[in-house]
Amino acid sequence: MTNFNIVPDRSKNFNLTKWTWYGKGILPMWVADMDFPAPKPILDDLRTALDHGVLGYEIPGKVLQETVAARMEHLYKWKVAPESVVAAPGIVSGFTIAARAFCTPKRGVAIQTPVYNEFHEVKENVDTPQIDIPLVKSVKGNIISYEIDWDLFERRVKKAGIFLLCNPHNPLGIIFSRRELTRMAEICIKHKVMIVSDEIHSELLLDDNKFTPMARISREIEKHVVTLVAPSKTFNVPGLFCGFAIIPNKDLREPFEKEMHHLRLHVASMGLHAARTAFSGKCDGWLAELNRYLTANRDFLVDYVTRYMPGVCTTIPDATYLGWLDFTQTSIDGSPFEFFKEKAKVALSEGKIFGKEGAGHVRINFGTTRALLKEGLERMRKAMENIS
Ligand SMILES: Cc1ncc(COP(=O)(O)O)c(C=O)c1O
Repeated sequence: MTNFNIVPDRSKNFNLTKWTWYGKGILPMWVADMDFPAPKPILDDLRTALDHGVLGYEIPGKVLQETVAARMEHLYKWKVAPESVVAAPGIVSGFTIAARAFCTPKRGVAIQTPVYNEFHEVKENVDTPQIDIPLVKSVKGNIISYEIDWDLFERRVKKAGIFLLCNPHNPLGIIFSRRELTRMAEICIKHKVMIVSDEIHSELLLDDNKFTPMARISREIEKHVVTLVAPSKTFNVPGLFCGFAIIPNKDLREPFEKEMHHLRLHVASMGLHAARTAFSGKCDGWLAELNRYLTANRDFLVDYVTRYMPGVCTTIPDATYLGWLDFTQTSIDGSPFEFFKEKAKVALSEGKIFGKEGAGHVRINFGTTRALLKEGLERMRKAMENIS
């Protein structure tokens, strides 16, 4: 059994990390990495590579492609040919490459806001329009949920070159259902919009939730999808920068690979080692324990907010270790992110970076020990109680 209540001290790192960015005394609950060490099989594999001593160039190779393909079959009974797997130095570079390959100055990138801040950077990096398709928020008691407005979805997405889907969704924690995925895909196909599905959080499933990749819905849909997966969030190795694009359709894969080649993008050898072990199945016991711990953290968060933070609304995420808190009905004046940084010494993620709908909200990272989660929430509660 892994003890997720004990975590290493990251505050003395020379480089900037989650724990050093905001300086001493600030409890970091912002960037999406967890406080837990990676599972032992990955660490052992990296140690073996280090003990060998030679850190030469390495290329992904067929074995790794087969490992990724086997993982898809194991998790979803999704059969993909190993050659459809392309290694990329992370998922942000993966969707940026896809946007370079498939967007134009007229047909840009459609995104469902509020959504992962890096999605908002594509427009400038690629010089293409961004088309926001806001998800529609509703509140019951203090619980918030979001849904797709289908008319709006169709009206907006048809102007895009790519629909950049975030599933599971960051920061809202939604796992889109098969029905929703099918409907989104049918609309995209009807209007000749390619789908890039960022599925980086797909193995961080809370409760006993199940996940279906967009491309797994049908062979027809698969032809229109670039799927992005990585071990980075699941096994907490984001600093190794290794991800994979799964592109069964050769007509999409070739332009994608061409862009990668033009940009001379490569994955570092340690990332490749970690990915092979992560996707081999050797860490699945650890992952099941992690997901149970995160589920209990999610429940703790929702319960704490409900009991002790009057006026604050929260999502109940289906997946990820990210919560989304709404302070628009509280007496906090201005940005809750600034308020909690100043008054509670807690660094959250500013809601507005996920889109303008995020004003008055913050994202909270609960991928940490229960004790630190409790401390963060207590600091926040006290700061709110002290508003005069
Ligand atoms: C939805 C989503 N995509 C991509 C990333 C980052 O991917 P990478 O570090 O592999 O570029 C994150 C990190 O938080 C994320 O939440």
